Amino acid sequence: MTEIVNTPRIWFITGASSGIGLELTRKALAAGESVAAVSRAGAAPADLGPAERLLPIAADVRDEASVHGAVEQAVDRFGRIDVVANNAGYGLFGAVEEATDTQARAVFDTNVFGVLNVLRAVLPVLRRQRSGHILQGSSFYGQTADPGVGLLAATKYAVEGLSDALALEVAPLNIKVTLIQPALTATPFLGNLDAATRTHEDYDQTVRATQKAIGELPPSAFASVEGVAAGIRSIVGRDNPPRRLALGGSGAEAMLSALQARMTDLEKWAEITRSTDG
Ligand SMILES: NC(=O)c1ccc[n+]([C@@H]2O[C@H](COP(=O)([O-])OP(=O)(O)OC[C@H]3O[C@@H](n4cnc5c(N)ncnc54)[C@H](OP(=O)(O)O)[C@@H]3O)[C@@H](O)[C@H]2O)c1
Repeated sequence: MTEIVNTPRIWFITGASSGIGLELTRKALAAGESVAAVSRAGAAPADLGPAERLLPIAADVRDEASVHGAVEQAVDRFGRIDVVANNAGYGLFGAVEEATDTQARAVFDTNVFGVLNVLRAVLPVLRRQRSGHILQGSSFYGQTADPGVGLLAATKYAVEGLSDALALEVAPLNIKVTLIQPALTATPFLGNLDAATRTHEDYDQTVRATQKAIGELPPSAFASVEGVAAGIRSIVGRDNPPRRLALGGSGAEAMLSALQARMTDLEKWAEITRSTDG
């Protein structure tokens, strides 16, 4: 059941062309592990790693057939999958009212339905193996939100909810699930943001103020991508990995405030809450 423990791991990483996924790929290869590296173009930098341990795959997480094909290629080449980094995603910035229906659906297509496509493709492999660790790409915006990130946060909250259920469903099968919650991290993510174009001045004091504040953050306000990837690696392979892993102090603080505010609401309004009990 756990025959993989002492052999180098096999990773299946989506979003491997950039940012956190690329750094996870680099670190895995440097540690002697093997990687099926998924991106839409399917190209890998020439010096990334030895061809026998790196399989670049072109697949779009929004396309279920292409994701199934990617998993098949990975298993054909490496024989199994030990770690799945369900990491591909992008952001959408704008007031909830400002994002168009097309933009809102598109970000769910990648960040939620793409994550589901990967799960449906890898789970039969992991169940057969009775082993595996799934790293679900969330964010500190999976537990809290700021003005302008409503749609992005909605996708990450969705990933958090389904992952809580998934973790319970697959635990008896020896499959582990960890939600990865990076703080703002120094990757091309902000440059790859989609943004609402029909903006309204009523949101200047909230949405545009947040946009300005994020734009003015010093480099030191961002978590390092190397640190985030190292943090992720440090919990892979543990017997009892966390359900959620926050990476970056600013994100953890924002999540803590949000959780405390929820506790406060539960306690403050408990009388009304309990008044409905039959
Ligand atoms: N950076 C941050 O501040 C931050 C904070 C919290 C959470 N996160 C999360 O971390 C994850 C990685 O983000 P990052 O910071 O590394 O951003 P990034 O540098 O922009 O990388 C995003 C990756 O996702 C891939 N991708 C996007 N759409 C795809 C699709 N439809 N099919 C396949 N691949 C797709 C991109 O690959 P191609 O475009 O080459 O296909 C790229 O490799 C995301 O889920 C993001 O929400 C990031």
